[in-house]
Amino acid sequence: MLACQPVIAETLFGHHPLTAQARDAFVNDLIKKMTLDEKIGQLRLISVGPDNPKQAIREMIKKGQVGAIFNTVTRPDIREMQDQVMQLSRLKIPLFFAYDVIHGQRTVFPITLGLASSWDLDAVSTVGRISAYEAADDGLNMTWAPMVDITRDPRWGRVSEGFGEDTYLTSQMGRAMVLAMQGRSPAERYNVMTSVKHFAAYGAVEGGRDYNSVDMSLQRLFQDYLPGYKAALDAGSGGVMVALNSLNGVPATADSWLLKDVLRSSWGFKGITISDHGAIKELMQHGVASDPRDAVRIAITSGVNMSMSDEYYSNYLPGLVKSGAVSEMEIDDAVRHVLNVKYEMGLFNDPDSHLGPKGSDPINTNAESRLHRPQARDVARKSLVLLKNRLETLPLKKSGTIAVIGPLADSKRDIMGSWSAAGVAGQSITVLQGIRNAVGDKAVVRFQKGANVTDNNGIQAFLNLYEHAVSVDPRPAEKMIDDALAIAEKSDVIVAVVGESQGMAHEASSRSDITLPPSQRRLLDALKTTGKPLVMVLMNGRPLALVKEDEQADAILETWFSGTEGGNAIADVLFGDYNPSGKLPMSFPRSVGQIPIYYNHLQTGRPYDFQHPNKYTSHYYDAANGPLYPFGYGLSYTRFTLSEVRLSSKNLARNGSINASVTVTNSGKRDGATVIQLYLHDQTASVSRPVKELKGFKRIFLKAGESQTVTFPIAINALKFWNAHMQYVAEPGKFDVMIGLDSARTKNSVFTLL
Ligand code: BGC
Repeated sequence: MLACQPVIAETLFGHHPLTAQARDAFVNDLIKKMTLDEKIGQLRLISVGPDNPKQAIREMIKKGQVGAIFNTVTRPDIREMQDQVMQLSRLKIPLFFAYDVIHGQRTVFPITLGLASSWDLDAVSTVGRISAYEAADDGLNMTWAPMVDITRDPRWGRVSEGFGEDTYLTSQMGRAMVLAMQGRSPAERYNVMTSVKHFAAYGAVEGGRDYNSVDMSLQRLFQDYLPGYKAALDAGSGGVMVALNSLNGVPATADSWLLKDVLRSSWGFKGITISDHGAIKELMQHGVASDPRDAVRIAITSGVNMSMSDEYYSNYLPGLVKSGAVSEMEIDDAVRHVLNVKYEMGLFNDPDSHLGPKGSDPINTNAESRLHRPQARDVARKSLVLLKNRLETLPLKKSGTIAVIGPLADSKRDIMGSWSAAGVAGQSITVLQGIRNAVGDKAVVRFQKGANVTDNNGIQAFLNLYEHAVSVDPRPAEKMIDDALAIAEKSDVIVAVVGESQGMAHEASSRSDITLPPSQRRLLDALKTTGKPLVMVLMNGRPLALVKEDEQADAILETWFSGTEGGNAIADVLFGDYNPSGKLPMSFPRSVGQIPIYYNHLQTGRPYDFQHPNKYTSHYYDAANGPLYPFGYGLSYTRFTLSEVRLSSKNLARNGSINASVTVTNSGKRDGATVIQLYLHDQTASVSRPVKELKGFKRIFLKAGESQTVTFPIAINALKFWNAHMQYVAEPGKFDVMIGLDSARTKNSVFTLL
């Protein structure tokens, strides 16, 4: 599928073996030849745009004042700049080219939160491989991905970009993504280097308000928030993007403890650190730098190698070095990291390594032939989560009359999600189109929009700030509802496609209310009055509060933003051509007031027991405890049953391993896949431990009537935690083993760590 085409290398400096020794010798030698200005130039990462028009960039390239470019995404444009380096600059140090390839490049896959819902590492690898292939085929060398920020707050719009609330799931998926994108080496023609982000703990911004501060204990940081980054780095990620937030009072961009002590000294990271967009400037707003010069001094000495999208390093580093406030060694160190990654990208062997020979550029960048539709459809199907299915409302029959209603039913832009890279909205399949494709002429399909995504003018303007993303239907809201009712009443079933516009789940898109917008709630209320079976297809980039919708709907399918082939994938599930298997990577709260709500919370002294309610226990008196849909939850068209848990031994030696097994049976009538989840709980320890923590999962496929034994090995590493003295330990004692189809309903057993 992803066969590498041979590349005729036009060798620039000669052939350089991709070993650390050869790299170090080459880079040391190159640094000796560089002037201070050329060194500082390498630390600058900019994009072409109104602030930096092409002509200005050409001059910078000529003078060696730029190290890398982002946001340029076609081979001719990239080639032009790389050629300028070769023709005009003194040392001919190639640029690298980067972009936010988050869930696809030309082919758009489900948003990362959707991908996480597949609990399928092969699906992650497929997305990683194809995204890297398409990105490299566009001439790119690096992606700003994966985002592994753990978050327990769905108000934060960027939950859409990550793998959800769990450390283990995120770590596994982030690792798989890095391995898939970088392959054996980012130097190979169709691989790209990854840049894991946002280091660190960006997902824990207070109140879910983007760019807000983060304050947390070191135990929680190391136990829950850092392992995702570490897993991506252990998998070899060559880059780290530094977070915009402060952590315990120190902005990450100014945090030498984080960037030097933890990242480099403790974890041994050898790649490059890159500031987030304009973050160096923002040190003044954070109130830790008095002026631009101070901001630059702090950032470079804290370990930020490359500055994204500001001119501060170029403007202030020369003076800082001259005055002795920053040593040239400090600059050399940062430059070394930049040159190292360029070496590892193979750019010193062939600056055009990801461009291919001149004349080979695609005639049409957006050609259909460049897309990977079958893979996109397959991954999208795996990302869909069936939340409710009363009396087997789903799957639908491909007959009769189907009313497809909702502001998102035919939106090509929304189904692609935010950060949809170089994807073209015109190429995506909407839910309406997918349903029409599936039924052909076997059923009548009628469509009405029914409501605008929101009737709030302010929010409409917000969504259309930088692109015309949302078309507002001029009909009065009542008229839109009436038109929808007219087709609903004459149909056998209603498929209501509701949720968020992609811009509502994005960077800088925090919400204080996570219910459906009122325009859509009114539409659903009206549709409910028809008494027709109501299937809700949700499109959204965060857990929503859906208590009322859960009561109204007969079936609910969570589809996130499912990408280029989303509509076809959704239709596959709606009509039973694919049996849904997705599981939630985040808890769905009942209301915003329950946030933060996450399955692996700590034990408390007064746990609430709903069977024996007691006033003086930990709960809200005005709401049910617990989420509406728990972490790991998702239904199927078939039924899976689990045996009791079998342990190979009741005792685990510290250097040993035991097996926990269950037999899973598909006791329903359809073939299908599901995800078996292993959770552990430390009953008594020197600190309070989470009520349960995911420590393993396995996606299995069973034919109707078939059984399979699933076995999880358990060893001491799964039992370790950071104690009150910040030691990473496993303490002897009893542990609960919980195995289930979600985090709430499990089969349990107990073993003892000796
Ligand atoms: C975001 C990053 C992104 C960068 C470049 C920033 O605003 O925080 O996640 O990679 O822009 O587009």
